Amino acid sequence: MGKTTISTLNRMKAEGQKIAVITSYDASFTQQIEQAGMDVILVGDSLGMVVQGHESTLPVTVSDMVYHTANVMRVSERAMVIADMPFMSHGTPGQALDTAGRLMKEGGAHMVKIEGGAPQLETVQHLTDRAVPVCGHLGLMPQSIHQLGAYRVQGRGEHEGERILKDAVALEEAGAQMLVLECVPPILAAEITRAVNLPVIGIGAGGDTDGQVLVLYDMLGITSQGTPSFVRNFLAENDSVQAAIAAYVSAVKDRSFPAAEHTFS
Ligand code: KIV
Repeated sequence: MGKTTISTLNRMKAEGQKIAVITSYDASFTQQIEQAGMDVILVGDSLGMVVQGHESTLPVTVSDMVYHTANVMRVSERAMVIADMPFMSHGTPGQALDTAGRLMKEGGAHMVKIEGGAPQLETVQHLTDRAVPVCGHLGLMPQSIHQLGAYRVQGRGEHEGERILKDAVALEEAGAQMLVLECVPPILAAEITRAVNLPVIGIGAGGDTDGQVLVLYDMLGITSQGTPSFVRNFLAENDSVQAAIAAYVSAVKDRSFPAAEHTFS
């Protein structure tokens, strides 16, 4: 199999093949992930919680992201690798370009991910006009935790759902090439997935998105902060990390994950 690129992912969306995505932050897990045939690796700023032990993703720095992305890239072979733009690293288009430049040139990322809809459109346009591939992130945006007050489902009301749908379309128009939808009702996630041409990856968003992403430590059941209800513990059903990650890839591809119990109503 050749390297996964955005063209591969676009073709998978067009053909209705599910895309398997997982987070990784270091070389050893990345090796296991690669052996399991993962399509995409996300170096998520969730590392602030699962690796660094913070209460939120807010303390993560650009240097942290560069360091962990480089660890992943050193052994990554086939997967496409996306790196998160951390909190306060993309306040202006110019700052965002500097951050993305570091993540791609020093870290080696193939794409960067930015949380936010309408307020980020100018930045997304600025990056994509300058050959920086961008993945959007809508729904529950962990960098906004102190505005939200709690990690909870977003887009339940009609008005809020419409806003997220509008943001998704606008992000695509600004040049975003992928989208993560976190913790939104499955009907809304399905509608957004149909409305845009770019691959939509869900987490806590039901089974009708083009693919799924989970935080590695959550699906291995080794998080100290409690496992969200939309997560399945694949290590509990398998006898090694390698087998658990391979089972996750298979379950995404054959659509057995997420099941009804991993989906918000
Ligand atoms: O940081 C992260 O791991 C993420 C996923 C939860 C999508 O953004």
